[in-house]
Amino acid sequence: MYSKSMEPRIVGTAVPRKEAAAKVTGTAQYVDDVSLPGMLHGVTVRSGHPRALIRHIHFGDGIPWHEFTIVTARDIPGRNIVTLIFDDQPFLADGEINHPEEPVLLLAHENKDMVRRARQHVFIDYDPLPAIFDIDEALQAKTIIWGEDNVFKRYCIEKGDVDAVWSQADFIVEGEYSTEAQEQLYIEPQGMLATWDPETGITVRGSMQCPFYVQKALMPLFNLPAEKVRVIQQETGGAFGGKEEYPSMIAGHAALLAWKSGRPVKMIYDREEDMAATTKRHPSRTRHRTAVSRDGRLLAMDIEFIIDGGAYATLSSVVLSRGTIHAAGPYRCDNIRVRSTAVATNTPPHGAFRGFGAPQSLFAIERHMNKVARTLGLTPEEFRRRNFLRQGDSTATGQLIKQPLDLARLQQRALQLAGYADKLERFSRLNREGTRKKGIGFSTFMHGAGFTGSGERHLQSVVHLEARADGTVCVLSSMTEMGQGTNTILAQIAAEALGTSYEQVQVLRPDTAQVPNSGPTVASRTAMVIGRLVQSAALSLKEKLLQAALLQPGYTPEQFQSACREYICSIGPLKTSAQYEEPPGVHWDDEKYRGEAYGAFSWAVHVAEVTVDTVTGEIQLDDFVALQEVGRVLNPVLARGQIEGGVAQAIGYALYEKVVWRDGGMANNQMTNYIMPTAMDLPPIRVYFEEIPYEHGAMGAKGIGELPMDGPAPAILNAVENALGISFCHIPLLPEDVLSELSVAREAALDLAGSVV
Ligand code: MOS
Repeated sequence: MYSKSMEPRIVGTAVPRKEAAAKVTGTAQYVDDVSLPGMLHGVTVRSGHPRALIRHIHFGDGIPWHEFTIVTARDIPGRNIVTLIFDDQPFLADGEINHPEEPVLLLAHENKDMVRRARQHVFIDYDPLPAIFDIDEALQAKTIIWGEDNVFKRYCIEKGDVDAVWSQADFIVEGEYSTEAQEQLYIEPQGMLATWDPETGITVRGSMQCPFYVQKALMPLFNLPAEKVRVIQQETGGAFGGKEEYPSMIAGHAALLAWKSGRPVKMIYDREEDMAATTKRHPSRTRHRTAVSRDGRLLAMDIEFIIDGGAYATLSSVVLSRGTIHAAGPYRCDNIRVRSTAVATNTPPHGAFRGFGAPQSLFAIERHMNKVARTLGLTPEEFRRRNFLRQGDSTATGQLIKQPLDLARLQQRALQLAGYADKLERFSRLNREGTRKKGIGFSTFMHGAGFTGSGERHLQSVVHLEARADGTVCVLSSMTEMGQGTNTILAQIAAEALGTSYEQVQVLRPDTAQVPNSGPTVASRTAMVIGRLVQSAALSLKEKLLQAALLQPGYTPEQFQSACREYICSIGPLKTSAQYEEPPGVHWDDEKYRGEAYGAFSWAVHVAEVTVDTVTGEIQLDDFVALQEVGRVLNPVLARGQIEGGVAQAIGYALYEKVVWRDGGMANNQMTNYIMPTAMDLPPIRVYFEEIPYEHGAMGAKGIGELPMDGPAPAILNAVENALGISFCHIPLLPEDVLSELSVAREAALDLAGSVV
C-alpha cells in the first residue's frame, strides 16, 4: 500500500511512454504493417437488408471466381455463434438476416483491388420481413425480432418504497431525456491477420482490447482447444470500447478464410465499413419522476432507463447494468426505483463505448437535477449540495460509501476554478442584448471502476512477473496498450514496487500463448485492478530477493539488477504471480441487484461555458473545467490526457456527432458527413485532480478512463439552458435543433405579446 512517508520516485511522475519511440519513429507494427508470404486479402459481403430470409446467392459475370476463396455459413467447421453472453449472433448469416450490415459471405484473393471489386458482384435474393427501428416499436412487440418480446435484458433496482412517498411530496418533477448512437472513431480501423496450420491451429493477430475474448470466440468456431487458438495483439490505434467485442467477429472471418484457403488472410476495414458495420454507443431514453420536499430534499426517484441494443444481444445486458446502477447519480435518497430494459431493433448491434451505459443515464439525471432545482426555486448547486452522497451514505444499490467523500467541496472548488458565480452574473447582464448568448453550466457525477458486482471475482485475473538475468523485469498480462498508457503505468507500478528503475521494466505484448488471463482491458479496471496485481507480484518478487539475502533494504536499482542475476544463476527462475482477491466486505446480490456494485467510484464536477449564436444556432465552447477525484494519479501527463480526450469525445457526443439511420443502416458513414469536433472546435480543457488514495487500488489509484465521458454532455446542455432559457433534453444538440426551438420560443413570445395587446 502507498504510504505518505514513502517518497514516490516513479509513480506520480510523467515518465516517457513505453511505446512512444516506436510510434514516433514508425517502427510500431499495426496489423496492416504486417505481411506474410502468400497472404490473401479478405472482404465481407454484407446483407444490405434490415430483416429478411436469404433465398439465393449468385455470383455475377466478369469475375474469375475460381481464383477466390469463398466462405459461407455452410463451411463453418464448428459452431456458427460469436461466443459472448447470449448465444445469438452468427459469424455468418445462415438463411436469416437481422440487420443491414450482417455478414453473409466472405471472399479472399491475392489482389486487394480485385477482392473489393468482386464484393460488388455477389448478389443475394431476399424475402423481406418486417423490421423494427426504434425503442417504442420494439416495446410494442407487434413484430417479434428477438426472443419472446424483443427484450434482451431487464433490471429493477429497488431501495426503500418509492410508491409510499408520492403523496407526501411537496413537488413531483417529471422529465424525459434521450441520447443517440455515437461512433468510437478510433484512428485505426478494425483489422486482423489470420493463419492456419493443421499442427498448431489458428493464429490471429490484430487490433483489439481483449485477446482472451477473441480466443474464447474462436475455439467453438473451429472446435479447437485453447492451445490451438493463439491470439496476438498488434499495436492498436485507439479502441474506446469499439474493440471490446467486435474483434471476435472480424478475427473469426479472417480465420475462416485462412482455414479454407490454407493461406494467411488479412482483413482490414476501411473507414466506411468500420463506421457502418461495427458497434456504436447504445441510443437511450430515460424517464424521471422525482419527489422532493419544499426544503429541497430528494424523497423518491423513480427512473425508467431503456437502451436500444440493435439486432443481437452482444454486451447490451452489461451496458444496461452499468447505466442502471449509475442512473440515480451521486445523490442520497432513501427511496429509489430504477427499471431498465435493453431492446432489440434491426440495426447493427450496439456495443461497448467508453462509459458503457453511464453517459446515457448520467446525462438524464444531470439534466433532470437542474429541472428539479428550478421547480424548487433553488440554484442547481444549492439543490445538489443538499442531496450529495457523503461518506457513510448508501447508493441506489445499497452500497455503503466507505471512502472519504465531500462532493460539496469538490463542487465548490470546480465552480470557483471556473469563475462560475461571476460569470453567471456577468452573462445575465450581457445576454440582455445582442444575438450571441453566453451561459455556464455544470454536472456532478461518478463512475464505478472495474467489472460490476461479482464480475471481478468471476474473472479471477492473473498477472505474472518474470526477471531476466540482465536484471530486466517483464510484466506479463493480457492488458492491452491502445494509446491510453497501459504499458507505461504498469511499468511505473512495477518499478516503484520493486525498487528498480522504470527503464528496467518491460511490459510484454499480449499473446495468449505467453501471458496469463488478466481479463479484458475495459471498464476502467487496468490501473486500479490489474495495477494492484502488478504491485503485489512485484512485492513478492522483491521479497524473494530479500529472503535469499541477495538484497539489503535501501538497495539501489543497480544492486537490484545484480541481485536478479545472482538469483537466476544460483537459485533458478525468478518469477512471481498475483491473482485477484476481492477486498473484504464486498457483497453483491445478482438476483436483487443490491450491494457493492464497484470496488470504488471516481467522482467529478465538470463546468462548461458556452456561447450560443441565435442567428446560426451554433454552440461554441469557451471554457471547460474538469475537476475529478480519481485516487492517486499514477502519471500526471497520461491522466490529464485521459481527461482531455474523454471531454473532447463527450463534446462530440453532446454537440456534433449524429448517426443518420436509413432502414437500420448508417447513412452518413464517412467522416465528411459524421461530424466530430476538431482541435479548432474545442475549448481550453482545464484539468484538475483531487487525490484521495484508495487502499485497494494500485498505489492508491482508482479508475479514470471512462469517467470524463460521463459528465460533459449534461454540463454543456445545462450551460445552453443558462444562455437561452430553453431546456434541451436530447443529444446531440445540433444548430438546427437550437434554431427550431428558438423559432418556437419566438412564436410563443409573439402569441403572448398578441394576447396581451
Ligand atoms: Mo469499455 S466501454 O469498458 O471497453
